[in-house]
Amino acid sequence: MTAEPLVKLPENHPTADPSEWGKKNRPSEELSLVLNASIPPKEKASAVFEHCSGLMHNLMNEPVTEQLIEETSQPIIALAECVIADEDVSGSLLRITSHDYYTYTHCVNVGVKSLLIAKHMLKTADDNLMKELGVGFFLHDIGKSQVDPGILNKPGKLTEEEFGIMRNHPERGAELLKQANSLDEIRKITVLQHHEKIDGTGYPYGLKGDEFHQFGQICALADIYDALTAERSYKKGMTVFAALKLMKDKMSHHFDEKLFNSFIQLFIKEST
Ligand SMILES: [Fe+2]
Repeated sequence: MTAEPLVKLPENHPTADPSEWGKKNRPSEELSLVLNASIPPKEKASAVFEHCSGLMHNLMNEPVTEQLIEETSQPIIALAECVIADEDVSGSLLRITSHDYYTYTHCVNVGVKSLLIAKHMLKTADDNLMKELGVGFFLHDIGKSQVDPGILNKPGKLTEEEFGIMRNHPERGAELLKQANSLDEIRKITVLQHHEKIDGTGYPYGLKGDEFHQFGQICALADIYDALTAERSYKKGMTVFAALKLMKDKMSHHFDEKLFNSFIQLFIKEST
């Protein structure tokens, strides 16, 4: 198992400078062209990642409207189609999302990893379900657009008040999507449940066992993994191996055992 990325992003790459994101956005038609082009999987995955990071930047910085959600959903659906159909691109995406951290890239990282877990686990899932799930996973943290960046990126411990604001982001996210007329059942699950834990110690509802939906569990698993491996200004990202070991040793009561084993299998599969 190695975290060595397949694709090295150049310094002028949009994901290397968040202030550039959004300016270089390609329309969804152009993303479809990239996905359908005969280019190496590494380049294809890099282009998809770049595009989705730009979309997330827009989504977090513009008023959430039905039209914006619709515009964002189309390329994510295209990405989900690509994950469903192309094993090589899936492998490259898994490696790209193993480094770099901002709220936008976190959404993309969690979105991609959750989709890959879902693909691995729900082998009989139909394409439509995967596309709907893709949108739900990518939107899971949309409530953070309402949280002060000073709190989001605070290096030290949060005060009780700040912690309360952070803990509120799942509900704020669901409210935002509801107001934008864009809260379907799957989005409700991924947005509201991605900080729950199977032992009932998560938030906002402290769901236990079967109350914690499988789609919410998938998103929560990818969310924790990405937080551990993310490189931030104040902390080094853990290696893939160290993160998976920590999750197995100290957090196994947060996840369903079968789901976690499936997640580990994903990395074993991609590293062999
Ligand atoms: Fe979150």
